[in-house]
Amino acid sequence: MSEKIKLQKFVDELPIPNILSPKMRINNDSYYEVTMKEFSQKLHRDLEPTRLWGYDGIFPGPTFEVMKNEQVFVKWINNLPNKHFLPVDTTIHGSEITLPEGRSVVHLHGGRTPAHSDGYPEAWFTRNFEQTGPLFEREIYSYPNIERATTLWYHDHTVGITRLNIYAGLAGFYLIRDMHEESLNLPKGNYEIPLLIVDRSFNPDGSLYYPSTSDSNDKSLPHPSLVPPFDADTILVNGKVYPFFEVEPRKYRFRFLNASNSRILTLKMDSGQPFYQIGTDGGLLERTVKINEFIMGSAERVDVIIDFSNYYGQTVTLKNVTKSASLETTDVMQFRVTVPLKSSDTTSLPYYLGNMNRLITSMAERIRDLTLVRTKDQYGRSLNLLDGKMWMDRISERMEVNTVEIWRIINLIDDDPHPIHIHLVDFQILNRQPFDVSQYQKNGKLTFTGPPIPPNPYEMGLKDTVQTPFGYVTSIIARFGPFTGRYVWHCHMLEHEDLEMMRPIEVLKTQDWKKSEGY
Ligand code: C2O
Ligand code: CU
Repeated sequence: MSEKIKLQKFVDELPIPNILSPKMRINNDSYYEVTMKEFSQKLHRDLEPTRLWGYDGIFPGPTFEVMKNEQVFVKWINNLPNKHFLPVDTTIHGSEITLPEGRSVVHLHGGRTPAHSDGYPEAWFTRNFEQTGPLFEREIYSYPNIERATTLWYHDHTVGITRLNIYAGLAGFYLIRDMHEESLNLPKGNYEIPLLIVDRSFNPDGSLYYPSTSDSNDKSLPHPSLVPPFDADTILVNGKVYPFFEVEPRKYRFRFLNASNSRILTLKMDSGQPFYQIGTDGGLLERTVKINEFIMGSAERVDVIIDFSNYYGQTVTLKNVTKSASLETTDVMQFRVTVPLKSSDTTSLPYYLGNMNRLITSMAERIRDLTLVRTKDQYGRSLNLLDGKMWMDRISERMEVNTVEIWRIINLIDDDPHPIHIHLVDFQILNRQPFDVSQYQKNGKLTFTGPPIPPNPYEMGLKDTVQTPFGYVTSIIARFGPFTGRYVWHCHMLEHEDLEMMRPIEVLKTQDWKKSEGY
């Protein structure tokens, strides 16, 4: 284990990632270049600069700000070293010893992106595109930004080493705006702040600590060996350890993202003041909801308004009240309401936010039952699988483009909820319903033991990642389109994703679908 280092909290100011400017803009199109590189950055007053990998050499990476329907082209340039500075486990699929360690591929999380630009895990490339993965297709990605205004993020997605590349710092925000959002008069500019929350552990010299083995006495394990979900011991927001943020007594908009490898966050203000939630993964809710706390699994986003107008002179701490959190990780950051009001706050806190095109269950052409199960791999490590299948098994999730499906995710793993993420789609959570696990294990029969539970208020909008608790069937509904091709779905606990808890999806053109179905 890492030697504990104690870092004083709330001594560094919250950084705000800079907005990326395009290299070129022509009509409705823009072209960006982003370079992944190794660099060092100060993450806390008392820490030596930490070696990281990041987009444009910063962590978090620069923020994209684009308009709905703007065509965005990005050349993701890999300038990473050939050797990884974190422990690479060469026994896991896609991470074999013969492969270069400085490989990368970028996924726009939550984006509805054509398959050639979605960052397929096997479409990786190394420095100067010298080596490329088996499914590499193109050097410049294109993003049509067809979704509503929302908070997306981009991050590494390389098969077998995603957990290491994201832990090293390869993550950033990608915001889509639209006219409707603009018309709502929400806080913006200096009053609209994205907050990327992660956990990290440090060695005394300031370097990142990431475990290379779960039990050093077990000689049968490979070395380095991937460990089951790794919860680090220190919380960072926008790349600073427990920062503080000085605010005016007024409304602010905060876009929360849990970009931790595996940690589940339950966020709450110690002042007891509410969050007015306006959005989730896929954009604005239909109505603002007032919540006192919310839970975020890896990759989930919650968009809120916080009103500090009654707190002038006070200091409010954002807490992580997840039950399993250690004393260290129960703090997140501090808001100091110390800046005098610059001008009166004329922004709104609307109740109605707009309509959402809801899918209804009668639209579904297919219901898929998909289990989450745990077995062991050849080294005796726990192996979490989607529907009992490995990444390389034959594609089983195939559908005709634009069809609606209900997925019932049946979680048989007695552990923390898995944040399940599906590429290409924005889905709605229908409900979660408890079932008799032992009976299901005996004969595959699904017997419910209680009524379906509707999603939490903060999960009511469009989602791309859903928490699936043990002993529940979590049902979601989605339309698979408008693009065709190969995508993935996976657990967003990165240590699970890297060790087989990811599966392909294939969306077929109508004619191909008919052929495959024998019409
Ligand atoms: Cu945020 Cu497939 O990933
Ligand atoms: Cu998982």
